[in-house]
Amino acid sequence: MKPEPDRFPGLAVNEIFCMTLAHAVGLNVPKTKYLRIGSKSCILVQRYDRTTDETGHTTRLHQEDFCQALGFPPERKYQAERGPTLGDCISLLRDWSTTPVLDIPKFINGLIFNVLIGNADAHGKNYSLLYSNSDRRLSPYYDLVCTLAWPNLSRNLAMKIGDCSSVNAFTIGNWQKMVKKTGLGWPMIRERMVESCHRVLDNLDEVQEQTIEYNESMATHLPENIKGRVGRML
Ligand SMILES: Nc1ncnc2c1ncn2[C@@H]1O[C@H](COP(=O)(O)OP(=O)(O)O)[C@@H](O)[C@H]1O
Ligand SMILES: [Mg+2]
Repeated sequence: MKPEPDRFPGLAVNEIFCMTLAHAVGLNVPKTKYLRIGSKSCILVQRYDRTTDETGHTTRLHQEDFCQALGFPPERKYQAERGPTLGDCISLLRDWSTTPVLDIPKFINGLIFNVLIGNADAHGKNYSLLYSNSDRRLSPYYDLVCTLAWPNLSRNLAMKIGDCSSVNAFTIGNWQKMVKKTGLGWPMIRERMVESCHRVLDNLDEVQEQTIEYNESMATHLPENIKGRVGRML
């Protein structure tokens, strides 16, 4: 359970909105539920690092966030603090995931989604690897939030896209530069950008309907903002 911190009013609904939208567009996210305890808004997230067998026995799965896996201390979770770059994340998946051919495209889909929703805070501790038997895979997504909803929060991306450190990283040049630096293929990224835009647009209204009863102002503001961002990416 994540209770909403007092300094970010509306965060729980914002996160529920973004996690629900992520699920709707096909990203791997755990189940979430909005909850109010007294006057406190919370989100309830199903743990992805536990499995329960048919006898009811629960086993813990090990997870490591990208900072841990790459050897960065927590105080260096942002690129601007000499923390991980997108290149580091992609190299980690290429070298250490047991299925990079699936995990790298999944990671790119998450990256595009974060730009579309306006999440500047996708730093090295907001991506993880999940260890299960002998598999090492990109974990489900978590902490998906439109950080633009609070004007006092930084617009600087936790990890630059090309040379761009702003969450408004929409120019083709930025993405092409990132692609070149990370050794990915531009047609694959471009195709994913277009497809993500359409998937987001197709699902915004329904996610708004599902969340508007919790916080009308947040559930109205977010889709307006995201629609504008999709338009710019397209
Ligand atoms: N559904 C989940 N199942 C298991 N571990 C999770 C889940 N969601 C988040 N975590 C772990 O908990 C940590 C904190 O969660 P996060 O949502 O990022 O909280 P915060 O908003 O405090 O940063 C993450 O770094 C991740 O490792
Ligand atoms: Mg986090």
